[in-house]
Amino acid sequence: MTETGIPNHIAIIMDGNGRWAKKRSLQRLRGHEKGADAVRDAVKGCAEIGVRYLTLYAFSSENWNRPIEEINHLMGLFRFFFKKEMKALCDAGVNVKFIGNINKLPDDIQVLIKEVCEATKGNSKLILTIALSYGSQSEIVGAMKSLGEKIKAGELEPNEIDEDMISRYLETDGIPDPDLLIRTSGEKRLSNFLLWQCAYTEFVFLDVLWPDFQKADLQVAVEEYASRQRRYGAL
Ligand code: IPE
Ligand code: IPE
Ligand code: MG
Repeated sequence: MTETGIPNHIAIIMDGNGRWAKKRSLQRLRGHEKGADAVRDAVKGCAEIGVRYLTLYAFSSENWNRPIEEINHLMGLFRFFFKKEMKALCDAGVNVKFIGNINKLPDDIQVLIKEVCEATKGNSKLILTIALSYGSQSEIVGAMKSLGEKIKAGELEPNEIDEDMISRYLETDGIPDPDLLIRTSGEKRLSNFLLWQCAYTEFVFLDVLWPDFQKADLQVAVEEYASRQRRYGAL
């Protein structure tokens, strides 16, 4: 946390798009579209209050189990968003990174992702990490496999492994652990998001559905965070 009480790193589980649409007797897809608008506001809002790292859960490894029409629509939205927002993100000083099993995405989206990363890599005002096709358990399995290979090659002794080393083998290497995790829509679970990284993160669960999320909701979460006492197991 910075001296101003603003979290250095906010992670958000953007949930509730489907319920937002259902409440209005609209198709779930409309909820995802409105959710993309809320992403824009959240990025802006975080940059304005001085948050340095923002990590957004956009699509989980389990979301591949949804109906193919919904998956295709979400892919279309990602495509549209990255194309349309690339310049604005660049101009706003946002450095975009991705975590997740990117190679499961359609080829053209993989190309777009590389372009967005390349175009924004010199920026440092806000580090925006988008978790796409992401699952924390699979990320940890990947790290364990890499460590196992190192041991097999005789380059590492098992007793040299410590917490910092495991963090460095995760996809979030170089990104500090989240200070504040926000989940919208009233659900209170992690859904396979940043399990290792959230060891000492403060959780704030908001009842607002993601498409309705505004700067005022961000403010509520940040104020709640600022009122918490983080003890890290000490007195
Ligand atoms: C979150 O909204 C967006 C994604 C998971 C892609 P949901 O689609 O999960 O919305 P609900 O939970 O059904 O309301
Ligand atoms: C978590 O939401 C994933 C994202 C927000 C991208 P889900 O809606 O998929 O999670 P569950 O199924 O309610 O746990
Ligand atoms: Mg959901």
